[in-house]
Amino acid sequence: MATLMKTNRLNEILNRISSDTWPERFTELVREHLGIDLETTYGPRRLSHPVMVAPGQLTLRESQVMKIKRSGYAGCVLKSLVGEDQKGHCSMSFQRKKATWINTVYAEHDQLGRYPIIHWDGRADTRNLEDYLVFAKQTHWLDGPDFFIAASLLCHLPGPDEEFRQEEWHYSTKGLKEAGYQIIEIDFCPSLKIGNSLSEKENVLRWYRTVPGLIKYVDPTIKVFPKLLNLDLGLDFQLEMAQAAVKGGADGLVVANRIFLSSLQLSHGGLELFQRNLTQVKEIHRLFPNLSLSATGGIYSGRQILEYLLAGAKNVQLFSFLMGRVRTSFLLKTGHKFQQVLFELFFNPEEGLLVLMIKKGFTNIRELLG
Ligand SMILES: Cc1cc2nc3c(=O)[nH]c(=O)nc-3n(C[C@H](O)[C@H](O)[C@H](O)COP(=O)(O)O)c2cc1C
Repeated sequence: MATLMKTNRLNEILNRISSDTWPERFTELVREHLGIDLETTYGPRRLSHPVMVAPGQLTLRESQVMKIKRSGYAGCVLKSLVGEDQKGHCSMSFQRKKATWINTVYAEHDQLGRYPIIHWDGRADTRNLEDYLVFAKQTHWLDGPDFFIAASLLCHLPGPDEEFRQEEWHYSTKGLKEAGYQIIEIDFCPSLKIGNSLSEKENVLRWYRTVPGLIKYVDPTIKVFPKLLNLDLGLDFQLEMAQAAVKGGADGLVVANRIFLSSLQLSHGGLELFQRNLTQVKEIHRLFPNLSLSATGGIYSGRQILEYLLAGAKNVQLFSFLMGRVRTSFLLKTGHKFQQVLFELFFNPEEGLLVLMIKKGFTNIRELLG
C-alpha cells in the first residue's frame, strides 16, 4: 500500500476512533486497514503491540490492571513486591514505605506541561507477602493471549561483607510462581545510595550476577528480567551491570530505572532519563543482540517508542505520562486518560508510532528490531 494511501487511511481511522468509543483491540483495525502488524514479544510471551504499563502505583490493584487491559495496553508489570522468608522476616522492610507525598513536576524547558515527571517519597509495595499474594492471585486471571502480566520482586540485597539471605528470594519466588507468574522482573531499589568505591561497585555487580540464579533455583523455567539501576557511575558501569546479569543467567533486561538525585534524595525521570536509557538500550543491544530488552523511561510520544525499538528494545513500559498531570490537551476527547494516552502514542498525526512507521515504510515491528 502506498504511503499516501496509508496516511489517508490512518486519518480515516483517527477520525472514526475520535468520534466513537475507543476499541480495546485497535491492533486488529491497524492490521486490517493499514497492513501494519504491531505484534512483538516480552521474552517468550507474545504481545499484541509494544506498549506496556510499568510497575508502580497504577498496578497495585486488580481493578487498575483491569482498566489497563480494557484500555488496550499490551500488558503491565505489577507493583514490586518486597519479599520475605517463610518466618515472615523481611530484611528490606524499609522498602515497604508508604508515600507521604507525591507530586507532578515539569522540566524547565517544558513550559506547556507536556512531559510530567513524578516525584514522591514512597518506594516498593507496602503489603506483606501474604496480602500481596492475595492481590497477585486475584489479578492473574487477567493474564492471557492478549494481555501479559509480569511480576516484580525485591528481596534481600547484601552489603559488601554480607551473604544473601537466600530464603527470602526462594520463598517469595515460590509464592509468585504459585500465584501463576512465570516471568519476574527484579527491582534493585533505585533509591539505595551506592558509592563509587570499588567494593560497592563490585557488590552491585554481585547482586546482578547472583539474583537470577536465586530465582531459578525455585524453578529453572521462570524467566528473570533484572531492571538496571541508573547509577551515576557512567555508561561503562551500566554495561557492566548488564553483563553481570547475563552472566548470572538473566533471560532479558529492563533498561532502566529512574535516576537517583542525591541533591533531592529522590529518583527522577523525564526526557533526560529517556536520552540516558536510549543510549543504554543501543549499547546493550550491540553487546547482546539476542537478549530480550524492555525499555522504560521518559516516554511521551510514539517517536520515542520508535527510537527505543530501533535501538533494540522489544517493547516499552511507561508510567509518568500515564500517572502525571498532562497540562496540554489530548487528541482523543472521549474516554479516559489511559485510552487518551494510548491513542496519542499510536495515532498522533505527527509524533504517533503509526504515522512514523508509515513514513519509513515499516509494515511490522520485527522490521524495526533489525
Ligand atoms: C511513583 C512511582 C512508583 C514506582 N514504583 C516502581 C516499582 O514498584 N517497581 C519498579 O521496578 N519500578 C517502579 N517505578 C519505576 C517505573 O516503573 C518506571 O520504570 C520509571 O518511572 C520510568 O518510566 P517513566 O519515565 O515513564 O515514569 C516507579 C516509578 C514511580 C514514579
